[in-house]
Amino acid sequence: MTKKNDIVGWIDYTQKYGDRKIRTINPDVQSGSTVLFNHFEDMQLAMDHNYPGVDYGTHGLSTQKAFEEAMCKLENGHISYAFPSGISAITNTLMAFTKSGDEVLLCDNVYSPTASFCHNILEKYNVKITHIESNIGAEIRHYINDKTKLIFLESPGSNTFEIQDISAIVKEAKKANVLSILDNSWATPLFLKPLDLGIDITIQSVTKYICGHSDILLGCATVNQKYADEFSKYFETVENYANPQDCYQALRGLRSLKVRLEAHQKSAFEVARWLDKNDIIETVIHPGLESHPQHDLWKRDFSGASGLFAFTFKKSYSDEKIALFANSLEIFALGFSWGGYKSLLTARPYKRDGEWVHDGKHLVRLSIGLEDSSELIEDLKQGFRVLG
Ligand SMILES: Cc1ncc(COP(=O)(O)O)c(C=O)c1O
Repeated sequence: MTKKNDIVGWIDYTQKYGDRKIRTINPDVQSGSTVLFNHFEDMQLAMDHNYPGVDYGTHGLSTQKAFEEAMCKLENGHISYAFPSGISAITNTLMAFTKSGDEVLLCDNVYSPTASFCHNILEKYNVKITHIESNIGAEIRHYINDKTKLIFLESPGSNTFEIQDISAIVKEAKKANVLSILDNSWATPLFLKPLDLGIDITIQSVTKYICGHSDILLGCATVNQKYADEFSKYFETVENYANPQDCYQALRGLRSLKVRLEAHQKSAFEVARWLDKNDIIETVIHPGLESHPQHDLWKRDFSGASGLFAFTFKKSYSDEKIALFANSLEIFALGFSWGGYKSLLTARPYKRDGEWVHDGKHLVRLSIGLEDSSELIEDLKQGFRVLG
């Protein structure tokens, strides 16, 4: 017979070793559904929703809390919540702040599942979705009306890389008491601090650079003080539990994020500058290059560039030729979820909402990993040869 405190596999190291109890440099991965109370009175408090702690696994245990606190510090927020994926952080944030009759202003360059959620789900609940230009600034005032609830931005967009004028947008949004949200996955909080610029909520696909190893899905939303209570109430209601093992991996990723991002940035600039000088390339779309239409905004607001950018060819190649090129690459792998150590390529005739100067052209997007940039350039060089 086991008594209530005799839990199989659980050892009270404090009793066994006192001050010399086993400590590791990293936090434990705490997983579980049942949270134990020391006293029945605590359980009573929990039953009355007055317990000043975590009383159930779906509220997030110590590993999630450690990750959320680290993110909150990096983003200069009031509170952060981890979600099972980046898209889950996005959809939950949109759900938390909209109701029937509201209008959402959605930037044209957002991650396409974000737009699909807005159209397929929010519209079903009578939320109006209005698209706004990807390089928008103060002109956003022409879209704001008394139904506008929130503005959703992604800067730069993760396919077409336009940058929005955050300060000008925030100024108009605040005048009209409209909530602003920004997907900050490209820059991470190391290269852009949206809340410092007046954005209310910033979102990370932690899956990307923060994790950095392409082996987990995780998201995080960080909220300023004004919207923290409303968001916390939503989070505590939906109990959308992020896996503690994934939060542990993300915490580990955070510890090397700065050195990895600097390496991604350096190699990406080297590859982008080489492409920029190549005769078969029409445009290299990289916010850190002077030729980028919003390069000045990038310089003003961002402290660096990550490793994701795109380019177009001068000539219009057939899909078959593009397939030959992509298949000939020996280092660049073919895959969508970017931000990891391995360099990746996608290529497609890109079509997105709103007008776009490169509409219909093959857009080749590169996620520059941690390989040597000279090897990446050699790989592209030999790939271009098959284009003839
Ligand atoms: C800009 C951006 N935001 C969000 C997401 C979604 O992230 P996740 O894959 O973690 O759901 C992605 C995924 O590619 C993305 O590119």
